[in-house]
Amino acid sequence: MTDDYLWFEEIPFPVIGYSYEVLKEACAQFVIKDEDTVLVTYPKSGSHWVIEILCLIHSKGDTKWIQSVPIWERSPWLETNRGNKLLKEREGPRLLTSHLPFHLFPTSLFTSKAKVIYIMRNPKDVLVSGYYFWTMTHVSKKPESLEQYFQWFMEGNMPYGSWFEHIRGWMSMRDRENVLMLSYEELQKDPRSTIEKIGQFLGKKLNPEELDSVLKNSSFQVMKENKMSNLEMLLEKFSSKHFKITRKGICGDWKNHLTVAQAEAFDKVYQEKMAGFPKELFPWESN
Ligand code: A3P
Repeated sequence: MTDDYLWFEEIPFPVIGYSYEVLKEACAQFVIKDEDTVLVTYPKSGSHWVIEILCLIHSKGDTKWIQSVPIWERSPWLETNRGNKLLKEREGPRLLTSHLPFHLFPTSLFTSKAKVIYIMRNPKDVLVSGYYFWTMTHVSKKPESLEQYFQWFMEGNMPYGSWFEHIRGWMSMRDRENVLMLSYEELQKDPRSTIEKIGQFLGKKLNPEELDSVLKNSSFQVMKENKMSNLEMLLEKFSSKHFKITRKGICGDWKNHLTVAQAEAFDKVYQEKMAGFPKELFPWESN
């Protein structure tokens, strides 16, 4: 159990698995290569789901890789102690993940031809998912209640800082040729077409059987059963009650958790912080 965060450049980070030195070095010097595929998300936006899809696209639907190597080793986090080390040792085209806000991201990305996929999700669902995750795990400061976490979320006082700043920063990359912006909501609505879209973006064409396998093996139920993907092995050391990353896996769970007053307060802050962005960019705005 921890009482605080690891602070780096005024952004809170979890205290377990991270260090000031690695963050400093990663943000200032990590070299993104042209052949890399970089997945960027704010925590709880569906990162693991998309890693699973990327791995399955890479293996053309073959499940050997996703069933034998833990997900955090297949697409390591560039800012974590272990992920950073793994990536630096890795040869060839790499798959890498990051939750870093735009302004902290290693600048080598901006001159490279690496393919970048940014996944966004309805922030109210991100909030609820994050509340459970940080409550159940022992890697960061724990909220005492949803009311308290709601406050933290609105202030950006939780790991990786403000959701609003994160999306605003990364949205500035949206018109680049090597950047694909996707949402958790469109993956839920039409996973098949969205997987095809990812494949096309990566220049990987899948035949119908391969696509079927990607779809099936990245589904919530299959991922939930896959020990290499549901984080069970990692979280048994760092969480209570056999927590898995595959908690509920739906859109709109916030409606079961936030009060009307909280939802209204959220919307007010959202309108202020996201002013200037066309509503069409965000699927949750049309609900
Ligand atoms: P919930 O907590 O709302 O269930 P991240 O990987 O960025 O930490 O995001 C975790 C969220 O993605 C969790 O949301 C989790 O259930 C959901 N998720 C993980 N795998 C999924 C899948 N295959 N299909 C749908 N949602 C998935």
